[in-house]
Parts: sequence; structure tokens; C-alpha cells
Amino acid sequence: MRKHIVAGNWKMNNDLPQTESLITDLKKQLQTSEAEVMIAPSFTNLWHAFEALRLDDIEVIAQNMHFAENGAYTGEVSASMLTSIGIKTVILGHSERRAYYNESDADLAKKVDAALVNNMRVIFCFGEELSDRKAGNEESVVKSQIESALFHLSADAFNHIVLAYEPVWAIGTGETATPEQAQDMHAFIRKTLTDKYGETTANNVSILYGGSVKPNNAKEIFSKPDVDGGLIGGASLKAEDFFAIVNAF
Ligand code: G3P
Repeated sequence: MRKHIVAGNWKMNNDLPQTESLITDLKKQLQTSEAEVMIAPSFTNLWHAFEALRLDDIEVIAQNMHFAENGAYTGEVSASMLTSIGIKTVILGHSERRAYYNESDADLAKKVDAALVNNMRVIFCFGEELSDRKAGNEESVVKSQIESALFHLSADAFNHIVLAYEPVWAIGTGETATPEQAQDMHAFIRKTLTDKYGETTANNVSILYGGSVKPNNAKEIFSKPDVDGGLIGGASLKAEDFFAIVNAF
């Protein structure tokens, strides 16, 4: 049975004191939830967050990583550096990295392979631009992103892959996809997986929705049969809002 997951992508927010304060608030709000709960602080706060939450049911995950094991990649962080401090899950392919750092599907395929070789779980992000959707191309764009970065993998590898559909036009805009739009795309993604790998594999992959998920819309979005949780940006920076979303299942 695929898992329900709610992950908070903090993006480039919170210095160390702010991280400590948010973690204190998260601990106060933490209760047994039906969903797996994750937070993704910036690199500088990962170890501290991991240590602070070591005994709590909140997994600390990374926002990115490089595909190389080591070498002359100034400013980058490798999979083994992350696993050496206890980080076992990494977000890859976020639209902001695709846009600002020109991360291609080929680059992301190499990052996915590096994460899997290091026994990490991947939250793989993808999604169409508004112009793609207005042109009616959202499904072909999403299918191409998934095929190009993931369809070299074996079926077994998908035991370590979580998909995150994040329509770019909904990220940080307050323009959330409707629950029906989310379900339609998630169902299309699941069918794309089924056609390639079969129903068993496809039905075991968690598909998260991301893009302006808030406490007042999470319940309806998460109620859809092919929506298995959310990747949360802005609303993850307040413990009360984040757990209102976690508890929306
Ligand atoms: O990775 C999640 C993020 O892109 C969504 O951001 O602020 O629209 O929830 P936000």
C-alpha cells in the first residue's frame, strides 16, 4: 500500500536560530498522524535539525544534491555527505532549480541514479508551466519529464521514488490547482507508470501534489484517490499551518 506523505520544503528560509524556533514549534504540534511527515531545511541547518528531531516522527530531508560522489564542484553537496549525517531522502528536480540552474531531465536522471546508489529515497518534482497548460500540453510535458529522468529505472527502483507533481503556475502564487485538476494529472501520471511498469508498481508509488497547498484546501485535495499527500512550501514555515495540512487526511 502506498504511503501518505506531507513534506515541508523550507526552500532558502530560516537561519539557525529560526530553524531552532520552528523545530520547537513543530515538536509542540506533533501528534500521531496517518501521514509520513518530512521537513527540508537548507543545507546549513540539516545536521542540527536531524539531531533535534532524531527521536521524533519527523524525517529531515535535503532539498537537493549533486550527482557526483565528490570532486571539483564548488558549493555542491554529494549524496554520501547527506547520508553521513543521517539524511536518507532528497528532493530532486524542483521547478526553481530547473528554472534558475538549468537542471535538465538528463542532469536529473544522473542525480536520481546517484541518490539510489547511495540507498536514498527520492522525491522527484515535475510540472508544467502555465503556457503549457493554456496550450493543452500539460500531459505531454509531464510525461516527458517523468520518462526522461526516471524511465531508465527498474520497477524495483520505484520502491525508493516518490513523485511530486507541482504545476509551476501554482507554486508560491496562491493559484492552487483545483482538486479535480490535481486528480486528473495524478491519474494520468499513474496510468503512465502502469503502461511502463504495470499496475502493481504504479499503485505503490506515492504521488504528492505541490503548489499553494494551505490549511483551507488540503483536505479536499488530499481526498482525491490518486493524491497521496503534498509537498508544501510557504505553509511549511508555520508549524500550526503545516500540521493543519498534515492532519488533513
Ligand atoms: O516544493 C513545494 C513548493 O514548490 C510549493 O510551494 O509555497 O506554493 O506551497 P508553495
